[in-house]
Amino acid sequence: MIIGWSSGVSLSTLKGDVLIRILSELEIKDGGLSSEWDSRIGGLASLGLFEGKLQQSYVLPLEKELDFSAAILVGRGDRILGVDELRLMFAQIARAAVKLKAEKLVIQIPNGMSNWTAGVDLAAVTHAFSEGLLLGAYIRKHYKQEQSQYGGITSVMFYIEEELAEPEGELWTSGLERGQVFGEATLLARTLTNIPGNMLVPADLAVSAVEIAEKYGFPVEVLDEREIVHKGMGGLWAVGKGSINPPRMIVIRYQGTAHWENAIGLVGKGITFDTGGVSLKRAPGMEDMISDMGGAAAVLGVAEALGKLRPRINVVMVIPAAENMVSANAFKPGDVITSLSGRTIEVLNTDAEGRVVLADALTYAREWGAERIIDIATLTGAVLSTLGDVATGVVTNDEAFLQEFTAASQRTGEKIWPLPAYPEFKDMLKSEVADVRNATGGYGAAITAGLFIGTFAEGKPWIHLDIAGTAFLSKERGVNPKGATGVMVRTLLEWMLSQAEN
Ligand code: BES
Ligand code: MN
Ligand code: ZN
Repeated sequence: MIIGWSSGVSLSTLKGDVLIRILSELEIKDGGLSSEWDSRIGGLASLGLFEGKLQQSYVLPLEKELDFSAAILVGRGDRILGVDELRLMFAQIARAAVKLKAEKLVIQIPNGMSNWTAGVDLAAVTHAFSEGLLLGAYIRKHYKQEQSQYGGITSVMFYIEEELAEPEGELWTSGLERGQVFGEATLLARTLTNIPGNMLVPADLAVSAVEIAEKYGFPVEVLDEREIVHKGMGGLWAVGKGSINPPRMIVIRYQGTAHWENAIGLVGKGITFDTGGVSLKRAPGMEDMISDMGGAAAVLGVAEALGKLRPRINVVMVIPAAENMVSANAFKPGDVITSLSGRTIEVLNTDAEGRVVLADALTYAREWGAERIIDIATLTGAVLSTLGDVATGVVTNDEAFLQEFTAASQRTGEKIWPLPAYPEFKDMLKSEVADVRNATGGYGAAITAGLFIGTFAEGKPWIHLDIAGTAFLSKERGVNPKGATGVMVRTLLEWMLSQAEN
């Protein structure tokens, strides 16, 4: 999608399929837009069809007097809007345009925008514009024989009525560009997450990672099953060996400073399909387990954005990829396996496979020099019981670290909520035959699962993000579509960019 702006020109010089007009309630009540628009829009208001209320929109077919085939009227109410509301407004604009099968949009920005977006800096506002457009424009790929011809929105032009001074122009551009990078990174994560399990096995996930790494010249390493065994990654091997599609350990490094130091470890769960293994899941809803690599997809989204933004930080991204299957060769309850760290794990439930592969991935991130670690995983059903599909659950060993991360999440509007890491929960992980057990069979399962992973951070500052509820939605909500959301890509990026400024 090409996103640009032009100011101080006449509307007649801009071509597009659809014109978008953002209108306030007051403007519609009082009129004064221009004689032709006043009469049209006034008519809609008197019929109660469009009154300019916030998040209200209306499609108005246009006659030939303008070069557009339709206008989308979008309400903004009559108060000052924050970035969350602006992001959502633009996502709704994109959704309306997609419904009309529009390809080229022109969005009219009337004079005085700073009056209804006051209190937020201009680049953050235009960031919300482009980000929202991308988040709303996403269409899930389908595999129907009859392909639809519509390819989506190809270009968006902001038509800014007032003539912008140079500094404002620069803010417009930088905000739109950053929002576009954030949005595109999120869409990449959504696309990967939505791919059916048969079309994305661990080796395919590795190919996607290598493609991104090579595009930006990042060093990338993919360990195959032989090397996984040879290196002693007993956790990843145990989970992966039950499938005919063997596991992969994927590492991408992004170096943004002169020396490889103070690296951030970003670890994403890459279970390309989770049947539960021998501790088999029940059939209803199992199809959603194509999203069990949502953490890995988020990491790859971040990698893509790092390639474009090039912040002055270092990040080692680690993805343990496996398919959790039932087979003669699958790991079993009662097995004791030796992880890369040397710690032994008693397997009590093969459906608690995420923490087992993540254990090795955290150790490997440490081997690559990670000084702080964030893991992101569709880890537990228990987090859904607690926070629903509304918020991502968080476990940490470092409150100050979490505070910074929470501040970033408040800027992106992605909801996260901390779960308490009380020592009593840690005690539940004790095993009689091994160093830790992979399932507790008790309450607080989202916390114990997180703490299991935290063991392998070896005391380094660590944040765990359980996106089991938020990575894949059963219906559209806010800026997110049904299916994969690409959750946390934007917050991870926002936090990383804040680290670069320090
Ligand atoms: N991938 C699942 C968690 C999950 C559940 C993700 C629902 C998305 C939606 C994970 O591997 C799992 O099966 N967890 C088990 C652990 C239990 C056996 C200790 C769970 O939470 O039920
Ligand atoms: Mn599982
Ligand atoms: Zn899983």
